[in-house]
Amino acid sequence: MTEFSPGDEVFALLPEGGFAEYVSVPQHLLAPKPKNLSHEQAAAVPMAAITALLSLRDAGRLQPGQKVLVTGASGGVGTFAVQIARALGAQVTAVCSASTAELVRSLGAAEVIDRTTTDFTRQDQRYDLLLDIAGSRRIRASRRALKPRGTFVAVGGPAGRWLQPAARMFAALALGPVVPQRMVMADTVRCTRKKDNLITLTELIEDGKVTPVIDRTYPFADIPAAVRYQEQGHAQGKVVITT
Ligand SMILES: NC(=O)c1ccc[n+]([C@@H]2O[C@H](COP(=O)([O-])OP(=O)(O)OC[C@H]3O[C@@H](n4cnc5c(N)ncnc54)[C@H](OP(=O)(O)O)[C@@H]3O)[C@@H](O)[C@H]2O)c1
Repeated sequence: MTEFSPGDEVFALLPEGGFAEYVSVPQHLLAPKPKNLSHEQAAAVPMAAITALLSLRDAGRLQPGQKVLVTGASGGVGTFAVQIARALGAQVTAVCSASTAELVRSLGAAEVIDRTTTDFTRQDQRYDLLLDIAGSRRIRASRRALKPRGTFVAVGGPAGRWLQPAARMFAALALGPVVPQRMVMADTVRCTRKKDNLITLTELIEDGKVTPVIDRTYPFADIPAAVRYQEQGHAQGKVVITT
């Protein structure tokens, strides 16, 4: 018994990730591909966009009208986060380099903080939610950007340090019991509702509220170059492998 037919266009968040020309996927992980996206565009969506969705909607409990600060706003997760936060009715301030300010504004950021000239932890502005994708400031300092009852969502850490993001997330969670703010993280890998979340994203994409931003595509044979570029940590949106 299957809900799909030969030729159906689908996409999925593979539990283990990976690069392959053909892949076997349990049907409970598959969702119909957004009709208005190419396969290349759709490939950019699952991991980064589900991470952004879970971080904002579930971990962050973002409400319409709230102010959200997104660090790493021009990267793979960040470009989805800015759009999804706007779609959820929030007012978005993006932290990114000046060279990507125009991009994040076009995605819906009302304000942009140039990370190379301004320390967001030393601004007067206070936010309901801090989505910390870049992990570039100490967590204790980052809390200064939050309202007293605000929420800190730990998403990532600096590029090139494989264990750093995890360590940073656990450091944020450890602070939770001793600070007034909510300190939380989203667990994309262990999320059991991947298909439902893909369907939610498909609706946002087909409604024109979210569009994947693709920095570069690389052919299958150039995967090492694609990984090297991604690991530099300065992609504008996603890096996609094509067949
Ligand atoms: N991509 C995913 O699917 C995914 C899913 C779950 C978790 N994560 C985690 O989330 C984090 C970000 O992932 P990503 O894929 O969005 O990364 P990415 O595409 O490489 O983007 C990294 C972002 O961080 C910014 N950045 C780089 N160095 C910085 C610095 N020193 N200070 C402040 N900002 C800096 C970059 O902006 P500039 O260009 O201005 O440097 C860019 O916006 C990683 O730790 C990753 O493990 C990613």
